Amino acid sequence: MKIDGQPYRSIWLDEDGQVSIIDQTRLPHEFVIRRLEALDDAARAIAEMWVRGAPLIGATAAWGLWLALRQDASDETLRKAAETLLATRPTAVNLRWAIDDMQGHLMPLPTAERANAARERAQAICDADVETNSRIGDHGVELIEALYRRHGRRINILTHCNAGWLATVDWGTALAPIYKAYDAGIPVHVWVDETRPRNQGTSLTAWELVSHGVPHHVIVDNAGGHLMQHGEVDLCIVGSDRTTRSGDVCNKIGTYLKALAASDNGVPFYVALPGSTIDWRSDDGLRDIPIEERGASEVTHITGKTSGGIIQTVQLPPDGSPARNPAFDVTPARLVSGLITERGVCEASAAGLAALYPEQSGDAG
Ligand code: MRU
Repeated sequence: MKIDGQPYRSIWLDEDGQVSIIDQTRLPHEFVIRRLEALDDAARAIAEMWVRGAPLIGATAAWGLWLALRQDASDETLRKAAETLLATRPTAVNLRWAIDDMQGHLMPLPTAERANAARERAQAICDADVETNSRIGDHGVELIEALYRRHGRRINILTHCNAGWLATVDWGTALAPIYKAYDAGIPVHVWVDETRPRNQGTSLTAWELVSHGVPHHVIVDNAGGHLMQHGEVDLCIVGSDRTTRSGDVCNKIGTYLKALAASDNGVPFYVALPGSTIDWRSDDGLRDIPIEERGASEVTHITGKTSGGIIQTVQLPPDGSPARNPAFDVTPARLVSGLITERGVCEASAAGLAALYPEQSGDAG
């Protein structure tokens, strides 16, 4: 997508052949590009959320393996680098998907060929992610078009967290259909959940939408139910960090409450995701998906820009109040109207996913 007219991806090889990222912890008030020069930089970038979002975490891990192998391409280094990267964040399954893909591709090769092959494979993973998300956009825009044909007015879409281009290599998952609708001249307006505690909605989704010119309002996380009760939401589209083969959707904390409100108000609730986010080994999201618990300071403190333009962090609760910080929740398949994938839209069910991904039916057994 473009920033000030210049096209960017969220991760890329710069003119010196170094891995570059946009430091998402500095947005929306500062635009900072960082270089990842070694495996540890890639691991830190994922763990500390300079990069975040399931597909981008996977892409960063792929580059992290290249960074390790260009120092030493032995079996031992490859295995250890994979372990280091796998330990960074537990919930997004794209991390394991990308590491498995890289290891499967690289392990059989002679060590002398591994570094080059790793660079090519990481680039291929990134290019495929862009194509995949564009297709998600093509399938998802049909839902928005249908609503526009029915209502003949602006279509109001609620989204949670950031599942835009910053969460992927480009286009995004949940936001790809919205960008495609906007670019096609369909009047869309986005309700952006702020998404406490890290405010990916306020800081990242809103920043993306401003950059692209898409009309939107940031709302507090608790406003969605009220807006739905008053007919102000036509459609919800969210992303996913891991979806089971039975269609249970793990996504940023708070997604489940939005799905409940959508169900109570007859608002369609769709999840946009690439095939790499499906965990074919799991058929019960509540039982199987590890939910990341992050530090309490994300809840007790908040960072923003003062009226004087200074970035400051302040404490919210009284001294001594403890906090819990589960980062994701699971929305059961029964609350999901459909899954928007690169292969089309399907029911959130084992049958729906198996029909789109027949080659996985062995794993799904
Ligand atoms: O903790 P994060 O910011 O890495 O969370 C991931 C997300 O961005 C969301 O859960 C998103 O909706 C799914 S990733 C496209």
